[in-house]
Amino acid sequence: MTDVRTDGQRKRVFIRTYGCQMNVYDSDRMADVLRPLGYAMADTPEQADLVVLNTCHIRERASEKVYSELGRLRDAKSERRAEGRDLTIAVAGCVAQAEGEEIVRRQPAVDIVVGPQAYHRLPELLAEAERKAALRRAGKRLPGAGVLDTDFPAESKFDHLPAPQGVRAGSAFLSIQEGCDKFCTFCVVPYTRGAEYSRPASAVLSEARQLVAAGAIEITLLGQNVNAYHGEAADGSTWSLARLIRAVAEIDGVARIRYTTSHPRDMDDDLIAAHGAVPQLMPYLHLPVQSGSDRILEAMNRRHGRDLFVRLVDRLRAARPDLALSSDFIVGFPGESDADFDDTMRLVDEVGFASAFSFKYSRRPGTPGSAMPDQVPEAVKAARLAALQALLGQQARDFNISKVGATVPVLFAETGRKPGQIVGKTPWLQSVYAEGNERLIGHIVEARLIEGHANSLAGEIVTRAYEAAA
Ligand code: SAH
Ligand code: SF4
Ligand code: F3S
Repeated sequence: MTDVRTDGQRKRVFIRTYGCQMNVYDSDRMADVLRPLGYAMADTPEQADLVVLNTCHIRERASEKVYSELGRLRDAKSERRAEGRDLTIAVAGCVAQAEGEEIVRRQPAVDIVVGPQAYHRLPELLAEAERKAALRRAGKRLPGAGVLDTDFPAESKFDHLPAPQGVRAGSAFLSIQEGCDKFCTFCVVPYTRGAEYSRPASAVLSEARQLVAAGAIEITLLGQNVNAYHGEAADGSTWSLARLIRAVAEIDGVARIRYTTSHPRDMDDDLIAAHGAVPQLMPYLHLPVQSGSDRILEAMNRRHGRDLFVRLVDRLRAARPDLALSSDFIVGFPGESDADFDDTMRLVDEVGFASAFSFKYSRRPGTPGSAMPDQVPEAVKAARLAALQALLGQQARDFNISKVGATVPVLFAETGRKPGQIVGKTPWLQSVYAEGNERLIGHIVEARLIEGHANSLAGEIVTRAYEAAA
């Protein structure tokens, strides 16, 4: 493949990312794979020669969004072809893995379908798509339109992807673990991402060092089940997430460490202790609980009850008293009664969350939950979600207000909506907006919190560094 178009311009790729942080990380890595092929990043699909949709299958609405976007891309492709140019359309991510060929059947304009474990093979897939396009231009009729790769290859993509390039505003994701063996009965992830796999500790540390060299001061370790991490170390031993966090903390220049997403069953003593012992480990933990009802937790195959969760929270708060907790909740799982839902509301009341995501149960094809009796009517789900979100929203607001008056370090990440405003994150992952110089983006700066809202805080920069940079 050549790296210039016939009009002499460089090729451009536009990647649209849906879903979780794993996809955000993967999208950057796809860009890294495409760069040596001559692809620069496009800001809009209109400017692009190649559009990649990095998709999410977690709930029905997430999947359906992909098909409406593909409809728009098909129209764009037809217009291009009428002008004698082309547009290559690739579907990556979890819908690609889950639906495979079905995607090309529903939308024949799609050129490439590539699953999350095969991104290192993108160059070959593009070459194959290009070959097919050339044959079609020459008038050949081809059986099956798209190029498909939804294998779970024996080799790990991580061993074949180029080193990550570029860090945005001091913050970087680092994927250390993929896949899941837990098989919660509502969830597609074990099917879309495959079996649990931990990257070797040395590979993680070397990527962390590269990220720091590229400007990262905050590293978020990622995995679908990140605290199940058990990576091989150079001496043949196995490292836990806690061990890995301690090693990342020793890298010069790492000011903040976060990790997500954790499973309550995999919070071991060492990891809990790390929250008290590692100063760079931020006092914030996303620990999905899904439900407060033992009966529902059992039906979800979560492998723990409400007591284990409450005890974990107590121990975590003993290790790190200012820990902010976040969680995920599902309402309306099959069989969930009013009493079960009340148990969830009581758990929220009892624990207190700084932030949370909550969802109506969505029936996903192929998961055990979708075949369970006693599916909950939509209206009941909606009412429960509204009640839960009102409570969680109140707790989030209260948490933000509780920090008003404090002076805290904020890692500024971007410009705000108003001119002269910059926005960043506190150690507890709250958004803070303040008046400040854009040059502070990518830096940790002390700010006094002056007003707390539902989703953010207003702050005033107080640090000397501000005067120096301004
Ligand atoms: N690995 C994480 C979650 C990954 S999916 C964990 O174990 O918790 C992110 C969140 O999406 C889940 O925590 C769950 O709350 C939600 N989710 C997953 N499947 C869902 C479904 N079928 N319907 C509604 N929400 C779902
Ligand atoms: Fe899905 Fe459960 Fe695995 Fe989380 S632990 S990814 S919810 S199967
Ligand atoms: Fe979605 Fe796949 Fe992540 S289903 S939530 S993009 S692992």
